[in-house]
Amino acid sequence: MSEFTAYSIIAAKKNKKELSYKEIKWFVDSAVSGKVHKYQLSALLMAIYLNGMSTEETAHLTRVMLDSGEKLKFRGHHYVDKHSTGGIGDKASFILGPIAAACGVKVPMIAGRGLGHTGGTIDKIESVKGFKTGIDSKKFKELLKKNDFVLSAQTKKITPADGLIYSIRDVTATIESIPLITASIMSKKLAEGANGIVMDIKTGSGSFMKTSKRATELAKSILGTAKQFNKGATALLTDMSQPLGNKVGNSLEIIESLDTLKGNGPEDLTKLSVELAAHMVLLAKKAKNIKEARTKCIEVIENQKAYDLFRKVVASQGGKLSSLDNLEVAKTKTCVLARTSGYIKSFKNDVIGLKLVDLGGGRKVAGEKIDHAVGFDFHKKIGDQVKKGEKILTIFHHKKQNTLARKIKKEFQDDIILISKTKTNKPKLIQKVMSL
Ligand code: URA
Repeated sequence: MSEFTAYSIIAAKKNKKELSYKEIKWFVDSAVSGKVHKYQLSALLMAIYLNGMSTEETAHLTRVMLDSGEKLKFRGHHYVDKHSTGGIGDKASFILGPIAAACGVKVPMIAGRGLGHTGGTIDKIESVKGFKTGIDSKKFKELLKKNDFVLSAQTKKITPADGLIYSIRDVTATIESIPLITASIMSKKLAEGANGIVMDIKTGSGSFMKTSKRATELAKSILGTAKQFNKGATALLTDMSQPLGNKVGNSLEIIESLDTLKGNGPEDLTKLSVELAAHMVLLAKKAKNIKEARTKCIEVIENQKAYDLFRKVVASQGGKLSSLDNLEVAKTKTCVLARTSGYIKSFKNDVIGLKLVDLGGGRKVAGEKIDHAVGFDFHKKIGDQVKKGEKILTIFHHKKQNTLARKIKKEFQDDIILISKTKTNKPKLIQKVMSL
């Protein structure tokens, strides 16, 4: 008989008690093996969400989640990955991964699926027919050796605890928790064997951390955990008050990533991808300073090395290049026009993510199939001038969704996008760089 019960551990957290390593280990292992029910796991996650965790508890949870599966180990500074806390239109991984790899960094990337209103790297890349995301450890190592960049989902063998907890958090409103985000991200990053981690901590309406203060707290928690596990880490606080780039939606985001790798991407997406990749290059000690790292990153876009590397990765992971070149985008378009003249003031960026979910581009229930073809193409950014009747964005949907698209169009005009009569400022894309 175990000394613990799910009930006693849930009750302890509900009553704001600090959980021990043994209690956390017993609960998480039992949830993964199915001995603890999903409804009990949901209750514990809600108690953690409401009452938080100490630095020690967060480290215990990270350790337990990491130990729930296999661990890869690589030797050397040059194994560096990046992870984002999630946002709208955040497709930077598809760009910075190949850039960093083309600069000599080994990028072992384990990424996630959509979570809450935010899209997921794994869902997006699955727009490419045949692309395999459930890579086992042996294949992962082979691919990393061959391509320098490998992109995989967390699997049943690697951090299975994160797979389970992530899917439950997604449907139980328990995402925006600093300890849960820290343990989720760090368990994956530690399992994949990266020795350096660049964190893109999003702040603003489309992120889980709405204020700069909360984002800074999350950055400190992640950097502190990285230190405890002896990993190099840099965190960038970046703007998520509007979509990153112009396109939002699975296939559309891969299309925009390819454009960016070819040097024709939107300014914000290009800038952020280069900056994150440059910090990876620096952590990997492949450049003497950030300036030199940036120059190297820009070079591999200009000479198409990063673009070619991405195509090689896609083909090696089973993706059909014919599908990559002809990604399916929903054929029916509904345009959202400005009702008044003025300047774009703000976006309810998280609501944009939820509208994508309404169209089928994200999940309402764990494990649900998603529609890769739907999405939005924004033609305006915060601070841009608009004239009455001018197109602000295009909705890509299926014909049978005409009524839904009209409803979403009205919601965009009513309150998702605000237009002001007076000139508005563009938000600062990269707000802070933090390191250990
Ligand atoms: N990304 C993750 O992997 N986990 C989270 O909890 C949030 C973003």
